[in-house]
Amino acid sequence: MMRVLAGETLARPPIWIMRQAGRYLPEYRALRARAKTFLDFCYAPALACEASLQPLQRFKLDAAILFSDILTIPDALGRSVRFVDGEGPRLDPLIDAPDWRFDEPHRAVQRLAPVHEAVERVGAALADDVTLIGFAGGPWTVATYMLQGEGGEKDRARRAAYERAGDVDALLALLAETTALHLAAQARAGAHCLQIFESWAEGLSPALFERVILAPTRALLIRLRALGVTAPVIGFPRAATSEQIAAYADALDVAGLGLSTAAAAKALRGRIKRPIALQGNLDPQLLVVGGRALEDGAARVLEEFAGGPHIFNLGHGITPEARIDHVQRLVDLVHGDGL
Ligand code: CP3
Repeated sequence: MMRVLAGETLARPPIWIMRQAGRYLPEYRALRARAKTFLDFCYAPALACEASLQPLQRFKLDAAILFSDILTIPDALGRSVRFVDGEGPRLDPLIDAPDWRFDEPHRAVQRLAPVHEAVERVGAALADDVTLIGFAGGPWTVATYMLQGEGGEKDRARRAAYERAGDVDALLALLAETTALHLAAQARAGAHCLQIFESWAEGLSPALFERVILAPTRALLIRLRALGVTAPVIGFPRAATSEQIAAYADALDVAGLGLSTAAAAKALRGRIKRPIALQGNLDPQLLVVGGRALEDGAARVLEEFAGGPHIFNLGHGITPEARIDHVQRLVDLVHGDGL
């Protein structure tokens, strides 16, 4: 995977699976039951390390991803973050002026020391040829959860970006700084590459995309490099338009680009002005369905991404309904056993 991020095109792409440690694995559900809350789980280095390693014990994956969550940052900044079973994350939305007070970035990131310890533990346990991915949410995606309070509609978050432009820009700058410190700590702890999950990059006007995605992410990456981090970064502006994805690649110091299921890799390669690793983008539903549909889907992804550096992945996270035998079949197919 590191060779692909350095620009090499391999005969067979490396593969990892977004949310590869998750509820589709019975051993994950058993481990999860040992922590009281989801955040307790993320902040227990031994449990987080074990969760990161679980998928690699079953499948011949080329990368491990730190087990954590993008919402540890708002938690560390002093916002209340809860995970409601079957509903997803809930935060107290930022509404009134007294809410708009956050802890100082360095102090916030110190609170994430258990996450950095988990990175260290995973790194120590991995074989030499397995890449360790650290990650964080993109500033706008994390801000959206903070402004909206949940991950459904984003109307309140977008409204705030217009109505309270100064406050929102300051929040994005704070998140860029905090995220750079958090990613730098993960790199120091042994992460080989870093992914920025910009899951709510969809539905933004060109002007808002520039203001809330490109500008804060640029600041984040400049800060990350100033902190001495040389690890390659994969940006994942999920469900942005092709124009926006190309602009993201052109404007930002990213070695890789995550593509969601709707994106057309071949066309994007033509539009991006420099060689870049493309990661994606099998429909996660195919790991529920399996059979011929999965085989055809995987073959199409391999064909669509051929001719340039490719990291095989899904277009979004694996679902709890995915079947383990289908994941096994996919890994075999991508490694060349049976296509
Ligand atoms: O990929 C991995 O295996 C690493 C772990 C990881 C998690 N979350 C664990 C998790 C990663 C990389 C994330 C990133 C994340 N978290 C994103 C960006 C990626 C994306 O999916 O767009 C987002 C938006 C979040 C916020 C978040 N955390 C949501 C929306 C949820 C609920 C999801 C659901 O299906 O209920 C979470 C909780 C969460 N984070 C779970 C896991 C395995 C499931 C909750 C549980 O096990 O109790």
